[in-house]
Amino acid sequence: MSIKLIELPFAETALEPAISAATLAVHHGKHHKAYVDKTNELVAGTDLADAALNAIVLAAANRKDGKLFNQAAQAWNHGFYWHSLSPVEGQPDGALAAAIDAAFGSTQALLDTLVEQGLGQFGSGWAWLVAEGGSLKVITTHDAGCPITDGLKPLLVIDVWEHAYYLDRKNDRKAYLTAATQILNWHFAARNFASDSAWEYPA
Ligand SMILES: [Fe+2]
Repeated sequence: MSIKLIELPFAETALEPAISAATLAVHHGKHHKAYVDKTNELVAGTDLADAALNAIVLAAANRKDGKLFNQAAQAWNHGFYWHSLSPVEGQPDGALAAAIDAAFGSTQALLDTLVEQGLGQFGSGWAWLVAEGGSLKVITTHDAGCPITDGLKPLLVIDVWEHAYYLDRKNDRKAYLTAATQILNWHFAARNFASDSAWEYPA
């Protein structure tokens, strides 16, 4: 078994104007593909050759295998990122909305926090909405950092590597972050919040 480059869950043009088809083509077809391919190269012939991506990420972190962790976690993070975005407008509701209000005061305050934290992440990384127990918080990770290695349950993520926005926005990360917070997939977040375990990268 090898890790697959999952398909985008929407058409390449579907997120325009927030994120262009040109950006998605390179980001998914080049960057994400390279992380998947390199992960498969690194696990070939090892005890992780038949493992699912979640298990590879956790094993690489436990073994402090930075070379494998960077590739595997980036493969996982990108799969999670595609699912975190949606061309269908929506708002959180039900238990998720209640947890957001409890943690942040309002959905808008959460979105503002995501923008602020994403802007504050120095260099490459990711801005996440995560659950710890039943409560929510926004965190950032550096480079390939992935919250599942800290026992956190990710609900949504925004990629803040420059490759996520440079073609569209040059160095204006704030414009990208603000646009990205308007296309978040609240159904995906709600499913993750309701689940007992972290999202599994599809086999
Ligand atoms: Fe990326």
